[in-house]
Amino acid sequence: MSLHSRTKRLSVPQLVAMKGQQKIVSLTAYTSNIAKLMDPFVDFILVGDSTAMVGYGRSSTLDMSLDETIAHTRAVVSSTRLACVIADMPFGTYQESPQQAYRNCAQVMARSGCDAIKLEGGAVLAETVEFLVQRGIPVMAHIGLMPQYVNVMGGFKAQGMNDSTALAIEADARAHLEAGAFSLLLEGVAEAVARRVTEISPVPTIGIGASPACDGQVLVTEDMLGLGGEHVPRFVKQYADAGELIRQACATFAEQVRDGSFPQLKHCYGVN
Ligand code: KIV
Repeated sequence: MSLHSRTKRLSVPQLVAMKGQQKIVSLTAYTSNIAKLMDPFVDFILVGDSTAMVGYGRSSTLDMSLDETIAHTRAVVSSTRLACVIADMPFGTYQESPQQAYRNCAQVMARSGCDAIKLEGGAVLAETVEFLVQRGIPVMAHIGLMPQYVNVMGGFKAQGMNDSTALAIEADARAHLEAGAFSLLLEGVAEAVARRVTEISPVPTIGIGASPACDGQVLVTEDMLGLGGEHVPRFVKQYADAGELIRQACATFAEQVRDGSFPQLKHCYGVN
């Protein structure tokens, strides 16, 4: 079991200092029980806006509110004590202006107790990142495949697959680094691009469908537990089939209730 040796919650500066020292491990969580289970193993927990799809069964990550983000992030913060907790800012709550972003990020941080926020966007958001960082909000910048931009990108496609798009992703990375992002999350990008960005970046890169060269890796927990949908992206490795386990437990429960073998007297009160 690969437990970390921490006794206190990992801070953002400690997370940054892990670059070049040890790989950074992350998973998503949005509920108390799952967060508590992963706390001894991961360095940071991402309360992703993927919650909209895997938690609420919605068709995209665009449909996530600020109040939902705050509620799920609070649940994760209050049930963990070791992992750094990063909240994913929902679509439409930060793209309008640095001021709008500050108002909403500050609310998420103050009301949930999380350590940092993540936002999706290329160089056009660097001004916002700088505004936030200078006002006390640590920012992880998510570039490459950005699910909140699915309608502009025309689907979930790997990014940086030719020279010009590869250079554009590198330019996005440089803009966010200059703006003060404490980490770059690289999703669904060509391996060589993720490797290159990791080389030029003084802060950790976190990959998902990116490269083993990234400073850390994140997966959506439901995907790696076999609880995701029917389509499993190429970048997902399934570490357990919890879906099958749950199906079997439900089937056995249903069978036992119907045939009268559950409950037994030992499950009842007032009998010895
Ligand atoms: O919302 C999320 O879970 C994410 C991961 C895919 C990185 O942003």
